[in-house]
Amino acid sequence: MTSYLSELFGLSGRTAVVTGGSSGIGRAMALALGRAGARIVLVARREAPMAEVVAELRGHGAEADAISADLGDREAVKNAAATIIDRYDVPDILVNSAAVNLRPPLAELGDGVWDLTLAANLTAPFLLGQAFAPGMAARGWGRIVNVVSQQAFRAYGNSGAYGAAKAGLVGLTRSQAEAWSPHGVCCNTIAPGVVHTPLTEPVFADPTKVASHAARTMIGRNGVPGDFAGCVVFLASNASQAVTGQTLFVDGGYSAT
Ligand SMILES: NC(=O)c1ccc[n+]([C@@H]2O[C@H](COP(=O)([O-])OP(=O)(O)OC[C@H]3O[C@@H](n4cnc5c(N)ncnc54)[C@H](OP(=O)(O)O)[C@@H]3O)[C@@H](O)[C@H]2O)c1
Repeated sequence: MTSYLSELFGLSGRTAVVTGGSSGIGRAMALALGRAGARIVLVARREAPMAEVVAELRGHGAEADAISADLGDREAVKNAAATIIDRYDVPDILVNSAAVNLRPPLAELGDGVWDLTLAANLTAPFLLGQAFAPGMAARGWGRIVNVVSQQAFRAYGNSGAYGAAKAGLVGLTRSQAEAWSPHGVCCNTIAPGVVHTPLTEPVFADPTKVASHAARTMIGRNGVPGDFAGCVVFLASNASQAVTGQTLFVDGGYSAT
């Protein structure tokens, strides 16, 4: 039984890069992938929160490390990718969870917010995919998981640049799947619902909003980071070998209502 599950879902011998792995959904994904056997490389800006997750991962017996980089800066993304390949070779798994969430009303959305949002939420996943996927394809196995949002598919709450970037990331994932799936590299997105993390503090500070979002789900509650553990392990594992170009909604049924 155990070896059967290990064959399907085990990640021993794999290296997983998790951007935004120091907080919220990315942190839960990094911990899950590490506990499933992968060596984890976190990428985010702040070193202290990454060091905490690295320590937690090591406490679970996982190999873990962190690289500080501003993913809103194209050169920094390229440098981080080069450092990762230099230190660990091309990773087997890439999870893009890092994102910024700046959402002024569209009429007030200027170049700065647009450029930063597109850079961090869409260009960085593109550049990391370009850096790693050809090497994954050459090895005949790889997994890319891009974290998107319901706002890739529907508007709510000043989706503006954020929704546009996430919709672009869904399209990019399809392009990645088309390019690399023939070589064993499956590329998918996960679309969370409303999940309590530092990103959504403003929403969760308002009990009326919390209750109204929870009421729109089928499970009667908003998301928690732990909801993403099993799904990311599945999409990062052998078990998902025929799943590619897809979006997995992990939202308690919110998007199905
Ligand atoms: N929470 C939700 O309800 C929800 C809903 C839909 C989709 N999502 C998506 O889920 C993903 C994770 O969100 P979350 O709620 O877990 O957010 P979070 O707790 O705020 O975590 C964001 C992570 O991204 C990193 N990050 C942000 N900007 C960065 C930059 N410029 N360069 C490098 N790293 C950067 C942060 O670390 P540093 O600040 O140290 O850089 C942090 O590790 C995002 O893609 C988000 O769009 C979340």
